[in-house]
Amino acid sequence: MDEYIKSPMNYTGGKYKILKYIIPSFPKGMKNFVDLFAGGLNVGINVDSEKIYVNDQITYLIDLYRFFKNTDTDTLLRLIYKRISFFNLSQTNAEGYKALRDEYNKTKSLLDLFVLSCYSFNHQIRFNSKHEFNTPFGKERSSFNDSIEKNLIRFCDALKRKNIHFSTFDFRDFDFSVLHTGDIVYCDPPYLITTGAYNDGKRGFKDWTPREDAALFVLLDRLDKQGIRFALSNVFAHKGQTNDALVNWSKRYNTFYIDKTYSNCSYHFKDRGTKTVEVLITNYEWEASKYKQTALML
Ligand SMILES: C[S@@+](CC[C@H](N)C(=O)[O-])C[C@H]1O[C@@H](n2cnc3c(N)ncnc32)[C@H](O)[C@@H]1O
Repeated sequence: MDEYIKSPMNYTGGKYKILKYIIPSFPKGMKNFVDLFAGGLNVGINVDSEKIYVNDQITYLIDLYRFFKNTDTDTLLRLIYKRISFFNLSQTNAEGYKALRDEYNKTKSLLDLFVLSCYSFNHQIRFNSKHEFNTPFGKERSSFNDSIEKNLIRFCDALKRKNIHFSTFDFRDFDFSVLHTGDIVYCDPPYLITTGAYNDGKRGFKDWTPREDAALFVLLDRLDKQGIRFALSNVFAHKGQTNDALVNWSKRYNTFYIDKTYSNCSYHFKDRGTKTVEVLITNYEWEASKYKQTALML
């Protein structure tokens, strides 16, 4: 069995592949943990904390997790297979997929949203400005396969087992007054310099702009002053662009460089322009953050 649970959502920007860096950075014996930009919930679902707050602005996504938590897993699987058979869904039946999409846009059934995500292009969940699901068909690539089923079962078991509190706030409106010294807020916002489906300006939800980045830095500084711990995933550089405001802001905190090749944790000037420089910024010390990282010359 894999060490970590993988979200059945195959979410764009999901952190499953780098959980082995993120999860060990969290302190032991946590009382309250906030996954402020939960997305596919790859992080929050793997956290060991007395209470886990799961927040994302996409209300449909959070409602789907509530549905998973409150539905018996065998029943859920039976319902999924019934929908697949009713619409004759497969990797080649585009008409069946479109019929289900039309149906979902009329009923907003949470079950149908999940089934759609299994057959959609890159498993993406996208909505237009009228909040209609509009991801195209994932022809020859996406389906409800054995690995999604296995991931779904483990994910639902963990949802049922853990003490999770769901919310759908814009990150600025989350009620941080529930937190105390030592609690931790994990942030995995959209990255300003990469384009995820959630910051391409084509969704019915708020886009991510330099304003949001700046507001998040102010918020994290405030939490730091209150003695609340935070960890922020982000990228310093991507395809020749750098997020200078982020690099400057990060200097007061600890930065851990995540190497996609998993061979080492440092980046060099020569990598600039070619590599995505992915980081985890924390306002607390943890094992790996104690090692002096090779200076990033941006
Ligand atoms: C990079 S994804 C998170 C991925 C997640 N950590 C995972 O591993 O699956 C970023 C998430 O931030 C959410 N988001 C974007 N803007 C937001 C805002 N203003 N307030 C709250 N959530 C927001 C998006 O809906 C998206 O799900």
